[in-house]
Amino acid sequence: MTDEQSRSERAFETLAIHAGNTADPLTGAVVPPIYQVSTYKQDGVGGLRGGYEYSRSANPTRTALEENLAALEGGRRGLAFASGLAAEDCLLRTLLSPGDHVVIPNDAYGGTFRLFAKVVSRWGVEWSVADTSDPAAVRAALTPRTKVVWVETPSNPLLGITDIAAVAEIAHTAGAKLVVDNTFASPYLQQPIALGADVVVHSTTKYMGGHSDVVGGALITNDAGIAEELVFHQNAMGAVAGPFDAWLVLRGIKTLAVRMDRHSENATRIADMLTAHPKVTQVLYPGLPEHAGHETAAKQMKAFGGMVSFRVEGGEEAAVEVCNRARLFTLGESLGGVESLIEHPGRMTHASAAGSALEVPADLVRLSVGIESGDDLLADLKQALG
Ligand SMILES: Cc1ncc(COP(=O)(O)O)c(C=O)c1O
Repeated sequence: MTDEQSRSERAFETLAIHAGNTADPLTGAVVPPIYQVSTYKQDGVGGLRGGYEYSRSANPTRTALEENLAALEGGRRGLAFASGLAAEDCLLRTLLSPGDHVVIPNDAYGGTFRLFAKVVSRWGVEWSVADTSDPAAVRAALTPRTKVVWVETPSNPLLGITDIAAVAEIAHTAGAKLVVDNTFASPYLQQPIALGADVVVHSTTKYMGGHSDVVGGALITNDAGIAEELVFHQNAMGAVAGPFDAWLVLRGIKTLAVRMDRHSENATRIADMLTAHPKVTQVLYPGLPEHAGHETAAKQMKAFGGMVSFRVEGGEEAAVEVCNRARLFTLGESLGGVESLIEHPGRMTHASAAGSALEVPADLVRLSVGIESGDDLLADLKQALG
């Protein structure tokens, strides 16, 4: 049976544990070792054992993770980076040249926006912002020079939903590539390549790692030409995942399916409680039937994930107070770990978007709902809301 065949016949939960995780050929260790090594002995000049020559180009622990990532997203090639932004940077400099144009979403991680606005734009790449949850708005934002449409769904921090299949068709008709940041959903809940995306981006720091103990990023593609160029640029630019970080992400992924089920279950209970709470003016969670993207999310996601945002009566100070009063929800940036986090996007994760089209409401609170007891989480939020 070829790898391709066994991949397509196995369920996600099985691939998460087994893809790329072959027993160590030397010792039989069932978990891939951390190959903490920079270089490899050659049997005569050019005589590589197993194809490894230098760990920026390739490292066996990173290879295990990259094979796993490709299998989970249904892609031909996965690449692991030092951070989500390192992955994004490599992708943008692979797909774009001076004079090109990119469509970016009106809601995205603040660091992604900063990369476009402050770094990539200096290389002569133009960008414009569109509400990607509205396919007509994406079509209207295209120019003859558009090479990339960038989508984050669900989006950070407003939990907007973009119809991946619809936007893929629009992008492809215009000769552009569709990039989907799948960090919030993870491949367990949503597989953008099957819906038409050309490249999937992850901050593996989040749900893939799952334990708030590693920073990493990933790119996965099914396009052989893009894959080849990405492999070249990953080595040429050098922001690769180190062996220990790759190992941590690979370990985290083994429990991704069970974690995402529990994240989604707890988040649904919390969204329901917040919806009925008198001090909450709006709850943003794609699992709620009244959410504008609910139908699309139900179509393209297996469940609705662990991220919930809400707006608080009393404005910015009231929202900050809720964050400060939480006890079980830890006040901190990032998301996707087993422990619940709370934050104020306007002053924390999205401060870099202030004054731009991506500025977030001042009364917004974002939750990364963990996998603790749902009862304990509900009790903590109720006391934080006062
Ligand atoms: C949706 C999303 N994409 C990308 C990133 C960037 O990833 P990293 O922090 O690993 O560089 C983040 C970080 O918060 C994110 O939330």
